[in-house]
Amino acid sequence: MLVNGSNFTTIWIESDNQKVKIIDQRLLPHELKVVTLNTVNDVEFAIREMQVRGAPLIGVAAAFGMYIAALEDPSLDHLSKSADFLLKSRPTAVNLSWAINKINLEIKDINKEDRTNHILNMAKKIRQDEIEACSNIGDYGLELIKKIYDKKKSKINILTHCNAGWLAAVEWGTALAPIFKANNNNIPIHVWVDETRPRNQGFNLTAWELINENIDCSLVVDNVGGHLMQHNLVDMCIVGTDRTTLTGDVCNKIGTYLKALAAADNNIPFYVAAPTSSIDFNVRNGISDIPIEERDPKEVSQVTGIDENKKISTLKIVPQNSKSVNYAFDVTPSKYISKLITEKGVIDANEKSIKGLKEI
Ligand code: MRU
Repeated sequence: MLVNGSNFTTIWIESDNQKVKIIDQRLLPHELKVVTLNTVNDVEFAIREMQVRGAPLIGVAAAFGMYIAALEDPSLDHLSKSADFLLKSRPTAVNLSWAINKINLEIKDINKEDRTNHILNMAKKIRQDEIEACSNIGDYGLELIKKIYDKKKSKINILTHCNAGWLAAVEWGTALAPIFKANNNNIPIHVWVDETRPRNQGFNLTAWELINENIDCSLVVDNVGGHLMQHNLVDMCIVGTDRTTLTGDVCNKIGTYLKALAAADNNIPFYVAAPTSSIDFNVRNGISDIPIEERDPKEVSQVTGIDENKKISTLKIVPQNSKSVNYAFDVTPSKYISKLITEKGVIDANEKSIKGLKEI
């Protein structure tokens, strides 16, 4: 995807198959810095500290983490310890365990001397499959946007929360893929970008992606969405997911649920772009059974931005001795979700349709 007119992806391996590179997303949009992941510790840090983030990208990074572990030592003992270590880096996005379990299942039966290469090929395939899944989600989502455009015949206003663009995946993204495809098809689009406190993925990442692709967008703080919807300023919402249950409940960035409530109250379609790698077929009840990450309260009590001297700096914004709590995700019950946009098609957010994905 485009950054200052050049193509970029979030994670790649150099042709020597030794160096895994990522964009350090903590510095965006102020600085575009590429870093190399050399050790399993580097990969765990990158996921936990959110140098890489977004459910699909977390899965791909973990897969390359397993390859780096094999380069360190391809014994099953080291690979199993590395897998356990990586699995603890972030709890909510199911793509992490999805990718690691996929690799663990296969390597048991592979000779030690072939193991490293096998994991490399799996990591490359997981990355490539994720790109294709996102592109397909874009195509299916584009059809939904076209339907609204055919009726409205003027600019479509889409609200999105957090960042579910290419920075959250490898290319295209999930929720932003239909928007990129609509733009490529000359459908006039305007995007409402939720700030997404506390880490501001909307302002820092989604806005940056859209501006780089020349897509019209306006930045709004998290509480504006309801007002926009009441005044007919939103035609549809599209968000991503970190874990969708078998019954269609969607766990996504904190604040998603409130947007879904407002959309339901105003009869606005609320779509969730969900690759099958983000579906947890083992969990039924999102509210009781999905682990919700609690992050450092400092993310709430501080804000980071760029100062007058163009230096990235962090400011405290709360009273001395105040207490903050930082829940990173919430769950939107399936009844508020109009449709799930998967790479296999647009489906209802219910058990029958989600089970059906396994047969496609
Ligand atoms: O905490 P983050 O930035 O990893 O959270 C990201 C989100 O909530 C995304 O919406 C989700 O991972 C879907 S990404 C395609």
